[in-house]
Amino acid sequence: MVINKYKDIIINKYTEYEEDARLFSDRGHNVEYLTTMRYIQKFLKPGAKILEVGAGTGHYSINLAKMGYEVTAVDLTPRHVEIMKSKTRKLKNFKCMVADALDLSMFADKSFDMVLNFGPMYHLFNKKDKNQAISETLRVAKKNAICMFAYIPCASIASGYGLLHLGFERLDEVMDKVGRFKDVPAEVFNCFYIEDFKKLFEKTNTQYIANVATDGIAYVMKEYLEQLSEKGYKTFLKWHFLTCERSDQQGYSSHLLYICKKK
Ligand SMILES: C[S@@+](CC[C@H](N)C(=O)[O-])C[C@H]1O[C@@H](n2cnc3c(N)ncnc32)[C@H](O)[C@@H]1O
Repeated sequence: MVINKYKDIIINKYTEYEEDARLFSDRGHNVEYLTTMRYIQKFLKPGAKILEVGAGTGHYSINLAKMGYEVTAVDLTPRHVEIMKSKTRKLKNFKCMVADALDLSMFADKSFDMVLNFGPMYHLFNKKDKNQAISETLRVAKKNAICMFAYIPCASIASGYGLLHLGFERLDEVMDKVGRFKDVPAEVFNCFYIEDFKKLFEKTNTQYIANVATDGIAYVMKEYLEQLSEKGYKTFLKWHFLTCERSDQQGYSSHLLYICKKK
C-alpha cells in the first residue's frame, strides 16, 4: 500500500471528529448532501456498479445501496469503515473496506460505472499524490463512467474559517503574497484555485462535464438559513439548484464537485 506521510494526521482527525452527523447537522450542511445526491442521480443508469472513495460513514453510499445499486465504499479511517459496517449488516449489495485513495489495487481496471471521490482531495498535500488519487479513480472506472471529485476552493477557506469562525488572524500565517492559502498538512485540509484543479485533468483521458458549487453560499449563511421558513428555504434551494453550475457562484462554496466522463 502506498503510504502518504500525512496519513496518521488525517486518520487521527477523523477518528475524533463526528463525521456521521456533519451533513445533517443543519440546513447549511444539508445543502451539500442534497446537491451532491441530485448530481449523482442525474448521471446514474439502472443497475450501475458504484465505488465511493473516501466514503466517510457512508451517507451517499448506503443510500445508493438502499436504492438498489451495487455499491462498494472505501475509506482511510478504520473507525468510519466500522460505522459503515454496523449500519449495513443486512444490505447484501453493499461492501466496504479500509483503503487509501492512492492505492486502489484491490480493484481491477474498468470495474465501476460510476466512481465518487468525495474526501481524499481535501487532504492531499503534494502534486504527485493529487495526480495519483485522480489516476487511481479513473483507472477503476469503466469507459464512459461518470467520475466525480469533491474539492475545497481557496475562497471558502477565507469565507468559512476566516469570516464565519473569525479566524482571520490565523489565516494570515498560511496566506501567500497573492492571497492563496498554502497547504499546511498540520491543518489537515487543503484548497485549490478552481483553474488549478481543472488543470489536474488536462492530461487525463476524460471529458469535462461540470463543476458544481455543492453548498454555494449555504455554509456561510448557515445561521440565517436556520431562521428561514420552510417556504423560504425551499426557494433558497430552488435558486441554489438553478445556479450552482454558474462560475460566479463557485468560489465561496465550501465544497465543489468536478464531474467528468472517462473516455
Ligand atoms: C469530509 S469526509 C467526507 C465523507 C463523505 N464522502 C462525504 O462526502 O460526506 C472525508 C473522508 O475522506 C477520507 N479520506 C481522507 N483521505 C483519504 C484517502 N487518501 N483515501 C481514502 N479516504 C480518505 C476520510 O477518512 C474521511 O472519511
